[in-house]
Amino acid sequence: MKTFLLLLVMFSLAGCGSSSSDPLDTPGGPSNGNATNGNGAGNGNSNGNGEPDDGPAEPTGVTAELDFDHLHALADFPVGIAVSAGGESRSILRSGERGDQERAVIEQHFNQLTAGNIMKMSYLHNQWGSYTYGEANALRDYVEAEGMTLHGHALLWHSCYQVPQWVRDFDGDRDTFLDQLTTHIQTVAAEFAGSVESWDVVNEAFLDSGEYRTGIENCWNDGDASIFYERAEGPGYLETAFLAARAGDPSADLYYNDFNLVPNDGKLAAVLDMVDDFQARDIPIDGIGFQMHIQLGWPSINNIRASFEQVVERGLKVKITELDIPINNPFSGQVDYESFTQAAADAQRRRYCQVVEAYLEAVPETLRGGVTVWGLADGDSWLIDHFFDDGVEARPLLFNDDLTPKPALMGVADALRERDC
Ligand code: XIL
Repeated sequence: MKTFLLLLVMFSLAGCGSSSSDPLDTPGGPSNGNATNGNGAGNGNSNGNGEPDDGPAEPTGVTAELDFDHLHALADFPVGIAVSAGGESRSILRSGERGDQERAVIEQHFNQLTAGNIMKMSYLHNQWGSYTYGEANALRDYVEAEGMTLHGHALLWHSCYQVPQWVRDFDGDRDTFLDQLTTHIQTVAAEFAGSVESWDVVNEAFLDSGEYRTGIENCWNDGDASIFYERAEGPGYLETAFLAARAGDPSADLYYNDFNLVPNDGKLAAVLDMVDDFQARDIPIDGIGFQMHIQLGWPSINNIRASFEQVVERGLKVKITELDIPINNPFSGQVDYESFTQAAADAQRRRYCQVVEAYLEAVPETLRGGVTVWGLADGDSWLIDHFFDDGVEARPLLFNDDLTPKPALMGVADALRERDC
């Protein structure tokens, strides 16, 4: 199944064309971000810190000595991790030694989980009227048993291979589609009400330019497209989605979630316009999710801070929803670190620290929705299959493949303890 999905993704990538920025396929959006704001990692800042990569090769990873017991205990907001579950081959709920070890690390350091896939719409409601909650319920049971919380991801996402069959097959008018969308979102939100602390209600509705992803009939041919825009004959599906989410779950925080919000080259402005419009018309929205699939050297910390501040000015929560920071930028055309050296680990530690520090500086306590890292051990990262050439190191997460903590974990902890990065 996984191979099948990957092939489909690659097919969609191949069909993207040079200007494409499929959200799925260009997270951290480096190719577009670089081209448009001149702030990308492809602009000569080899590792984002101006340091030469001269550390000795470390075949097994660089491990950190931790001087704390629980990462989440250092924060006054949810500290989360994205996980595989259900039928995914790397489900954290699988039996066996590795599953046990992964759960132990998760339970030690994190107090919120996001399902990396299994709560997306095609998993929960692929055929119209037939809801399949089993896998998500198992994850929810685990989360509740461990006293953690769940961040729901995502009630609506255009990404082609995770669009449910009923949306693809739909053959009616606009109002009927919006009615069905309302039913879908309200039903799913109600099912998880009380268990889900917050939802990504709509994921990635805008292009980096700030234009809406618009509709085409066959989304496989265009990674920029949104079948929802097509079916709804315009952007009205966004407010429909938020209204339905609130109707289904009156207490969950409702987020709009996207990548490349930081460079501020159009997308963030468009999202903020949407927020202003929603607020003026009493359409519910509680926060903005910054995916933060970023690079060591891109975007700048100043831009990150400034972007958070613009959301805070509107009284909305800011949540870092999908953080990962690889040691090489796969869009830069160069390899900065041949292997995971001490220098790479240090640069990454500092970068993680600075990102969390910026979050604490820009976002007041009451508006902190939390920080979630998109995966546990380096080898599990989605970036590897989607963006990295064979042999180029990504190592974007907080744990080595043997589940030992990386310096990056210390970087996050240091920021949370307000230590210098
Ligand atoms: C990714 C998952 O991690 C992968 O397993 C899957 O193959 C593709 O989707 N932005 C999002 C997430 O909002 O849903 C994506 O997750 C990563 C980019």
